[in-house]
Amino acid sequence: MLVGGEGRRLRPLTDTRPKPMMRLVDRPFVAHQLDLLRRHGVRDVIFSCGYRPDALRAHFGDGASSGVRLRYVVDPEPLGTAGAIGNAAGLIDDEPFLVLNGDILTDLDIGGLREDHARSGATATVVLTPVEDPSAFGLVRLHDDRSVEEFVEKPAQEDLRPGEPFRINAGTYLLDPGVLERIPAGRACSIEREVFPALAGDGVLYGHPSDAYWRDIGTPASYLAAHHDVLRGALRTESPAGGAYVAPGAAVDPAAELDALACVGRDARVGPGARLVSCVVGERSVVGAGAVLDRCIVGDDVTVADGARIGPGAVLGDGARVPGGAVVEAGATVPTGGSA
Ligand code: GTP
Repeated sequence: MLVGGEGRRLRPLTDTRPKPMMRLVDRPFVAHQLDLLRRHGVRDVIFSCGYRPDALRAHFGDGASSGVRLRYVVDPEPLGTAGAIGNAAGLIDDEPFLVLNGDILTDLDIGGLREDHARSGATATVVLTPVEDPSAFGLVRLHDDRSVEEFVEKPAQEDLRPGEPFRINAGTYLLDPGVLERIPAGRACSIEREVFPALAGDGVLYGHPSDAYWRDIGTPASYLAAHHDVLRGALRTESPAGGAYVAPGAAVDPAAELDALACVGRDARVGPGARLVSCVVGERSVVGAGAVLDRCIVGDDVTVADGARIGPGAVLGDGARVPGGAVVEAGATVPTGGSA
């Protein structure tokens, strides 16, 4: 599992933790992936780390409490998505192995992927997920036998063929060990941009289209939407679904109003008359009386004083303070430890 990126798009929340340790409802994001792997019988996991590996080690240790055997490798410098796989080569057995980006929330049928990989005889199989608009992604085109024809990065309207399915790389792969030999040692290398196009050129890269639930949590908007999906029960997880989530130790005043997609972290406090609309409130944060938090993300140890209003898409870094009656506009960011 690739868990070493800096997560720049999720700053300032990733100033203080690596993206895989961002909480999703009641557990670190990557714990949802371990749950998925365990459900599908995967018991041996390697975290390929880079940015802030200590937080992952401190939480997951040897994996026993997650029901897997967990080992770690750490990039000596950022190695990119292929380099990070190559760095784990010494721990990988001589059989096909699964690679997952550490920021994908999915319900993928891993057994189905394994069967497909064996049946096609591919050297590498990339899971593909459908999108309505591929312009922000890399479109993957397949031949009739599902071998990859080409990758079209961020296609413009005129690059699209009439009626073709829009499928993108879902950040999940099944690779034969031979792929490791195609990853250059000692320099950063991208699997998407270097290794896969070369494998496609040799006709040994196949696609595995999947309609399973899939979401990349790499931006604030998608991270928030992932909470909503879990709370709605849009995919199978071990987290509680079916309404607002209030973590153990949190104190929500009975006169506060939470909608069904609100999420309140451990030991947070929410005052009377506060309104929490489909937002995320981090651990130990304090929301004052009458404050309104609308579809925003509030980090840990934040203070939103009485009567403050936080607009849709706003992100408050850990330890941020919003004075009484202040307004944080839609889409605004308050830095870690900063004041609005
Ligand atoms: P942004 O900075 O917001 O683009 O996020 P990111 O750094 O996580 O990059 P991206 O979303 O492209 O990465 C996809 C996956 O690969 C994520 O799970 C990252 O943690 C992981 N990853 C990206 N680059 C590296 C790297 O150099 N080393 C390791 N070990 N993992 C990486």
